[in-house]
Amino acid sequence: MANLLSFLSFSLLFLPFSISSSAKYTFPQKYFINCGSLSPLNVSGPTTTTFSADSISDSRRSHSVKDRTTSTVLTGIYNTARKFTRNESYELQIDETGVYVVRLHFFAFSDLFDAKFNVSASGFLLLSNFSIPKNVTSPDIKEFLLPVTGPNLKITFIPSQELSSFAFVNAIEAFVTPQRFIDEPTAYVTAQGKSNGGTEDLSSSGLTVMHRVNVGGSKVTPQNDTMRRNWVTDDDYLFLARTAKNHTMYSNRPKYYDPELGGATEYDAPDSVYKTAKEMNIDVETASNNFFNITWLFPVKRNATFFVRLHFCDIVSANRNDTVFNVYIYGLFGQPISPYDRYPELSAPFYVDFVVDSDGSGFMNISVGPRSDSNNKNAFLNGLEIMELINGQEEWEEGNGKINSLLIIVGSTVGGVVLIVVSLGVILFCLKSRKVTNAVDNSNWPMVNVYPGSTQSRTTARTPLGSTTPDMNLGLKISFAEILHATNKFDPTFMIGEGGFGKVYKGTLHNGVKVAVKRSEAGKGQGLTEFQTEITVLSKIRHQYLVSLIGYCDEGYEMILVYELMEKGTLREHLYSSNEDLGMSSSRSRLSWDQRLQICIGAANGLLYLHTGLSEPIIHRDIKSTNILLDEHYTAKVADFGLSKSGPPEETHIVTNVKGSFGYLDPEYMKSMQLTQKSDVYSFGVVLLEVLCARPAVDGLLPRNQINLAEWGLTWLKEKQLEKIIDPFLAGKINPNSLRKFGETTEKCLQENGTDRPSMMDVVWDLKYALQLQHPAMPQESYEDSTADDSWQLALPGINRLPSIDASTSCVCVSESGVFSQLKMDEAR
Ligand SMILES: *[C@@H]1O[C@H](CO)[C@@H](O)[C@H](O)[C@H]1NC(C)=O
Ligand SMILES: *[C@@H]1O[C@H](CO)[C@@H](O)[C@H](O)[C@H]1NC(C)=O
Ligand SMILES: *[C@@H]1O[C@H](CO)[C@@H](O)[C@H](O)[C@H]1NC(C)=O
Ligand SMILES: *[C@@H]1O[C@H](CO)[C@@H](O)[C@H](O)[C@H]1NC(C)=O
Ligand SMILES: *[C@@H]1O[C@H](CO)[C@@H](O)[C@H](O)[C@H]1NC(C)=O
Ligand SMILES: *[C@@H]1O[C@H](CO)[C@@H](O)[C@H](O)[C@H]1NC(C)=O
Ligand SMILES: *[C@@H]1O[C@H](CO)[C@@H](O)[C@H](O)[C@H]1NC(C)=O
Ligand SMILES: *[C@@H]1O[C@H](CO)[C@@H](O)[C@H](O)[C@H]1NC(C)=O
Ligand SMILES: *[C@@H]1O[C@H](CO)[C@@H](O)[C@H](O)[C@H]1NC(C)=O
Ligand SMILES: *[C@@H]1O[C@H](CO)[C@@H](O)[C@H](O)[C@H]1NC(C)=O
Ligand SMILES: *[C@@H]1O[C@H](CO)[C@@H](O)[C@H](O)[C@H]1NC(C)=O
Repeated sequence: MANLLSFLSFSLLFLPFSISSSAKYTFPQKYFINCGSLSPLNVSGPTTTTFSADSISDSRRSHSVKDRTTSTVLTGIYNTARKFTRNESYELQIDETGVYVVRLHFFAFSDLFDAKFNVSASGFLLLSNFSIPKNVTSPDIKEFLLPVTGPNLKITFIPSQELSSFAFVNAIEAFVTPQRFIDEPTAYVTAQGKSNGGTEDLSSSGLTVMHRVNVGGSKVTPQNDTMRRNWVTDDDYLFLARTAKNHTMYSNRPKYYDPELGGATEYDAPDSVYKTAKEMNIDVETASNNFFNITWLFPVKRNATFFVRLHFCDIVSANRNDTVFNVYIYGLFGQPISPYDRYPELSAPFYVDFVVDSDGSGFMNISVGPRSDSNNKNAFLNGLEIMELINGQEEWEEGNGKINSLLIIVGSTVGGVVLIVVSLGVILFCLKSRKVTNAVDNSNWPMVNVYPGSTQSRTTARTPLGSTTPDMNLGLKISFAEILHATNKFDPTFMIGEGGFGKVYKGTLHNGVKVAVKRSEAGKGQGLTEFQTEITVLSKIRHQYLVSLIGYCDEGYEMILVYELMEKGTLREHLYSSNEDLGMSSSRSRLSWDQRLQICIGAANGLLYLHTGLSEPIIHRDIKSTNILLDEHYTAKVADFGLSKSGPPEETHIVTNVKGSFGYLDPEYMKSMQLTQKSDVYSFGVVLLEVLCARPAVDGLLPRNQINLAEWGLTWLKEKQLEKIIDPFLAGKINPNSLRKFGETTEKCLQENGTDRPSMMDVVWDLKYALQLQHPAMPQESYEDSTADDSWQLALPGINRLPSIDASTSCVCVSESGVFSQLKMDEAR
């Protein structure tokens, strides 16, 4: 020990030699410690790194252990470990203050699986109650970035209080980073997607590395990284694999520029990160559909704060100034990225930093997407790092004398002496001051605000699905193998439907859940945009009258949506036969008037929820009898959200391709080119007629004045002779009052002007009233004669006595807002 200490003072004498303000950063030679080992170990890389031995003798506090099993594949630093039975610290002499990388390697063998301990360093609690699960077979590498100001960096291992607990470590790396390696981030993004304008001072924060991703490229190991980091591939985090493709064509070295001018250095990320990227997978055949975002989802701790660094290098453009694009965090915060602000050059690496609060969802979603003012409508990302902020000082106070530990001071071998002296010369006072990439001017950039406050629904959407989702990262992803298994390899006898988009199969997942599998066929109707819309819309909402999305699969060219199975198929199949169905309708029993009303009430409730139950209303835009499905109990659920749209009506885009289905389309749409909630009400009115008359919305085989059901129905409604056109099966089975109420409701829905149509709230109550009127046993006469808008009076007595109405809506409702909250609470699962 005396030897060691004198070595340290000796080396300090050499300090003046190494002061050089022009010295560039080179990768430090210390500290790399092969814990529990008696001899140093050379590890190859861009520069050879020597992991020195921590040759201190075993004591009651700590001793070295060696892996004696022959089966271990891993060699080198993972062969040995130091085991601590008491509090113990490594104290590393610091020559330069700044941000240090502290990397701890853990690989358990023999009894090391029983370890349980805390680790602290530089005032930060790095690991608490840490242990290695028995089934782990690869090294666990924990990396931290810590500001170090004192004369030394002390890394302390604290075994848990429990009896005979101990700590261990296989190897330690601790070295200084270039100056201004972590600097002021561009923006602070809160979980609500707001940037508070100011930025976060990170100078006193520690960071724990959570994700480090080489986007579009292959895995990078310490041997190939300028700072011995690991970078993983991004494909597992992609939300929709088909939105993005690898760009790996760039073969030259990225043009690292003088960091003083801004831009990244090879130490920020290695060549292999900047030389590969993911870019938009633009489908040349459907070039009009080229506006979409690429989104990655990263699992993160809930309610914590993260440092997010995005690495860019424009290797995708043909010309300078070609590609500017947007970055979004949580789809809420948006920031334009112009790769030419720093250098008017292609393939010049740079990065942009953010501080981001995570929300309660457990995921952080990051997207890039094209900008309309860009020459080249593309977007790309080369690399990404997510680190969690640790505000150590509050939780952990070091140096309060409580740690009664012996210090291990490293560098005791002669080889080490030479090494450290050399390294001092290199790393000291690397005074290059690098101007870290400036914030892009975002003053005229409006905040992108989508679904404010939707965190709750995002959380709930993912939770119940754990068992069906092999890929927990993405919550809803289901592997193609699982789908093949579920559908018996798309067995034709499992087919339950076929539409413009492709085929629908029934199936059973491994966990026993029965599902409907909708497989889009290449070249058929539903494109990527609809696929993406349906997933994003449905993953946010759960409701008893909306079909639930169980998951999706987008491996290879597949676009598959997996829903809960609706045993009884579409509403249309139960009304009349049509060649779009599979000929099963003949075997179906006809629905009674009661059942039909219940189904209409269910579907209306689903629509009501879409229109009013969410913070941002959703317009379905394609309501029709084939999009209302029935479960085994004939409960109706609204399906198919591929055309849905949330938020305010679209701006004055000229919509060229008419959305929605012929026969159901709001006549007002032709004038305004805008679909509103009242358009859904109109389409629903057509469905009501279909239910009553048991005929298609459009039937070209009928005489001209009868082809369009809405027109035909309205004619008879105005004549007050609706009974003339009802389904013959229902003749004599409908109470005339119920029919009258139903007819009035339908007529109101089909009004020419959207403003004259009722809200879905009114429709729900009117239909419930019609159901009540079907049961004359009930004392409802007083309402029968009322011609005023009786939607609200209806709520008062009697309604609890209707056994057919589900319990959740049978509350006695006091006010409109009261009803809403009740409906939301009971029905939004
Ligand atoms: C490790 O490399 C250093 C020089 O980089 C060399 O002097 C030393 O002998 C090597 N040690 C071993 C064990 O190979
Ligand atoms: C760690 O374990 C101790 C008991 O061993 C317990 O009191 C403490 O709450 C645990 N801390 C965390 C963060 O799990
Ligand atoms: C180890 O087991 C735990 C549960 O005991 C499980 O959650 C985890 O995925 C397993 N890890 C590996 C690598 O198998
Ligand atoms: C380890 O840290 C946890 C806090 O996360 C604390 O509860 C526990 O007491 C610590 N254990 C020891 C032995 O200090
Ligand atoms: C991108 O490249 C990585 C690494 O080579 C590979 O694993 C991944 O499958 C590729 N992804 C695509 C979409 O081609
Ligand atoms: C990584 O480094 C090894 C040797 O250091 C080299 O053989 C290999 O080609 C490198 N891989 C990449 C992707 O650069
Ligand atoms: C790129 O844009 C900058 C300013 O936006 C301009 O000064 C420069 O001339 C442009 N370069 C090219 C090649 O168009
Ligand atoms: C990302 O988060 C935003 C905001 O919560 C959400 O609108 C969007 O659907 C999310 N994207 C995915 C793919 O989950
Ligand atoms: C990309 O995502 C942002 C934020 O969610 C959204 O505003 C924008 O419309 C999306 N772009 C496209 C083309 O879907
Ligand atoms: C996260 O924050 C939300 C809202 O502030 C809260 O409801 C939730 O319980 C928090 N979750 C955790 C794990 O602290
Ligand atoms: C080890 O350190 C912990 C945390 O500072 C402290 O609570 C404990 O008393 C120490 N144990 C011993 C034996 O000094």
